[in-house]
Order: sequence, then structure tokens, then C-alpha cells
Amino acid sequence: MNKLRIGIAGLGTVAQGVLQLVKTNGSLMSRRTGVELIVQRIASRSAKPGVDLLGAVFSTDVHDLVADPDVDVILELIGGEGLAKDLIESALAANKPVVTANKAVIAGYGDQLLAQGNAPLRFEAAVAGAIPIIQSLNQGLAANRIDAIYGIINGTCNYMLTVMEEEGLAFDQVLSQAQELGYAEADPAFDIDGIDAAHKLTILAALGFGTSYDFSALYVEGITQITAEDIQYAKELGFKIKHLGIAMHTDAGLETRVHPALVPSTALLASVNGVMNAVQVVSDAAGETLFSGPGAGGAATASAVLADVLSLGTSGLIGSARALESKGRSLNQAQAAGTAPAMHRLAMDDIRSACYLRIPTVDRPGVFAQVASALSAHSISIEAVIQKEQPLEDASVSIVILTDVVVESVVNAALTELAALDTVVGKITRIRVAPTH
Ligand SMILES: NC(=O)c1ccc[n+]([C@@H]2O[C@H](COP(=O)([O-])OP(=O)(O)OC[C@H]3O[C@@H](n4cnc5c(N)ncnc54)[C@H](OP(=O)(O)O)[C@@H]3O)[C@@H](O)[C@H]2O)c1
Repeated sequence: MNKLRIGIAGLGTVAQGVLQLVKTNGSLMSRRTGVELIVQRIASRSAKPGVDLLGAVFSTDVHDLVADPDVDVILELIGGEGLAKDLIESALAANKPVVTANKAVIAGYGDQLLAQGNAPLRFEAAVAGAIPIIQSLNQGLAANRIDAIYGIINGTCNYMLTVMEEEGLAFDQVLSQAQELGYAEADPAFDIDGIDAAHKLTILAALGFGTSYDFSALYVEGITQITAEDIQYAKELGFKIKHLGIAMHTDAGLETRVHPALVPSTALLASVNGVMNAVQVVSDAAGETLFSGPGAGGAATASAVLADVLSLGTSGLIGSARALESKGRSLNQAQAAGTAPAMHRLAMDDIRSACYLRIPTVDRPGVFAQVASALSAHSISIEAVIQKEQPLEDASVSIVILTDVVVESVVNAALTELAALDTVVGKITRIRVAPTH
């Protein structure tokens, strides 16, 4: 039996999930992999007297994990960017393998960290919780050219959009409900503004397309402008609204964008509801593959963390300086930028998509003709229209238009022109239609 001594930084939701899973399934893991997990040391800001530490030594300084010669692998489960990055750097510098669930650190500093030291750095849990999507991209689909990755990768957004659809509730009502249920943080900005999904898409794009781990290169839009009305109109047009991370390669270049999108009601992703996550990968040989599962939660995330730990345990890397030198670095290189030919990243202005437009106008004859003529002046064709007779509370009416596929900069110009019309009386909502393969 190969003994693997782990050191855990943090004692929150995920760390406690890891401890619980080692406790309940530790012997099963040993039988299956030949690796016996020993929780050697835990370091976290505050002790949690009610938590079973499985005999581990406890201290409050996370750097104790690096200094302890009896710790073979470090699990960074504190989150945030400062101390977490510092800990990963010092562990790798000391040739200690690291497993992290921290998407923010990888999306911001992945290139730098993966280039450092010989020890492997693994981060399966950083994207889509329990779903083994990193391993699938690195290994399961390694023989393929990846053409597109579409992800529902933020459980809070997916939960909120699902409840808005099923119960017809307003955004703010659903947000409060999500906060009460623990599906949204007290400060929900990170999730509902799309930042969390963008961190995850940064990682998926790097693995699928060999881009750098550059969070700032993504286009990011959250779900705060989506109303129950939009969801209803989308349904009438045959779509569901999902918050998507899209990394897609076309002849024009690579698109990396995070925003709400209209997904055909019959599409696989449309059936992924509530807090569930899903990632659809389109590749040349395997075709369309869909991975779905819980994207968060102590046990689900611990499953991904321990998958990384066990794979390190079976890799022959732990405890062998020579193995680390020859294999550890190449494992990191496989996850680092530059393994695929460099791809031109498209500016958002240059992407092409069909669009849903909801235009609030005065309730007067001739307004639709005026809107249609403004779109036509930009050569934008209309695929479908919904115009309700019934005015809204503020006496405005909504004209809802589905356009054909148009270049983003052209839609932007048309929207500026529409917004300047005196018959348009509020903010125009634009939701892009998800690309199809
Ligand atoms: N929760 C999920 O479902 C989930 C899913 C996927 C990925 N993740 C990622 O997993 C990581 C951990 O998330 P979590 O939900 O477990 O967070 P959490 O519940 O807030 O736990 C963080 C732990 O780290 C400790 N900590 C924070 N700052 C520290 C410091 N300066 N020194 C020592 N210890 C410190 C905290 O101490 P205290 O106990 O004193 O607060 C706490 O025990 C994050 O990167 C997160 O993005 C989480």
C-alpha cells in the first residue's frame, strides 16, 4: 500500500467535505487505487472543535504545511488570492505537489504557477465542482481537436434563472430566496456579475485551446439585467435563458465569453436546471459530449479534490525527487498555455450571433415600423417578433425581436440608434443566442 500523507490548508466547507469523505470512503479508495490517505496536518485560521480531524496535527499557520517533512501533498482549500497564491508558490518551490479548488488563483496566475518548480499542481475542483471536466479535457479527449466548450458553470445563476422561469418571480425576489437557501452569498456580485463563471471559463479555455490563463481577456456579463418577462418571451420563441461560458474556435479566431444566452429549449444544456452545472464539449472525433453534475457543496467538491490527490498518489511522483524532475514538470506543462498552436482571440466586437432584443417603446401606431427600419438600415434581418397589445405598468409596450446572425459591432451601432429614438422609452435588453454546432 502506497501511503500518501496529506496536509490541508483551511477547515471550511470543502476541507470538511474532504475529511468526511476520507473518513467514510478512505478504505474504499485504498482498495481501488492502492493509495492509503493519511491526513497528516491541518492548518487553518481557527480550530473547529466539533470537526473530526482524523488524528491530524492542527495549527493556524498554513506555511506549517510546507515546512512539515511528513506532509507529501498540500491541499489549498482556503480560497482568495493573496495567501492562497503565496502558499501554492512556496509549496511548489519546496517541490511539494499541490491540489487546489481555487479558480480565482488559477484563472489569474495559472501560467506563472504551472511554470514554477517541478512539483505538479492540480485543480480539478476549481471548475464545475464534482464534474471531472479537467481530467476529461486533459486525458479523455486528449486525441481530439476541441472546437467548442459551452458551460453552465455557475450554480447560483443557473438556480436563479431556473426559479425565475418556473415560478415567474422577479430577479430580486429569487436572489433573496437563493441567499436564504445558501445558494447565493450575502454579497452575490461574484456570481451574478459573471466573475466566478469567467474564472472557470479561463481555465477551460486554457486546457481546451492552449490560451494563457488570462482572466482579463474574457468578455464578461452577468444575469442582473434578465427579467421574468425576458424568460417568458424567450420561451415563446422556443428558447431558455442560461448563463453560459463559451470558448469556441471558428475560422475567424477564438471566442471566450461569458454572458446570458438563449439556448434552444430542445438542446441538452436547456435541461440542466437548478444548482446543477454542465459542460458540453464539441470535438472533432468524439463529437458532442455533455458532462453534468453538482457544481458546488462540500462532498461534491471534495470528490474532485480527492480525485486529484489519488491520481497523484498513483502517478509514482510523490516522495521521489527523480520522478518529480522527469514527470512533474511535464504534467504541468500539459496544462500550461502554449501546448496548442497560438490562437487569435477575437475581440467581442467581431463575434457573430443572433440576438434577442427587448425594446420598451411608447404605445403608438407606427413605432414597430420605425424600429424595423432602424434595424434594416444596419442590414439586420428580423427572424421573429413578439409585440404585446397590453401596455406595462408604465404605459410602455415591449417589442421583442429575434435577429438573424449579425456581427456584434453592427448590433451595437443599431442599438445606439434605437436608444436615441424618442419612441424608445427605456433600456434595451440584448441577449445573444448561443451558437450551435
Ligand atoms: N464551497 C464550494 O462548494 C466550493 C466549490 C468549488 C470550489 N470551491 C473553492 O474551494 C475553496 C474553499 O472554499 P470553501 O467554500 O471551503 O471556503 P470556506 O468555507 O470559506 O473555508 C475557507 C477556510 O479557510 C480558512 N482561512 C481563510 N483565510 C485563512 C487564513 N488567512 N489563514 C488560515 N486559514 C484561513 C477559513 O478559516 P475560518 O474557518 O476561520 O473562516 C476556512 O476554514 C475556495 O477557493 C472556493 O472557491 C468551493
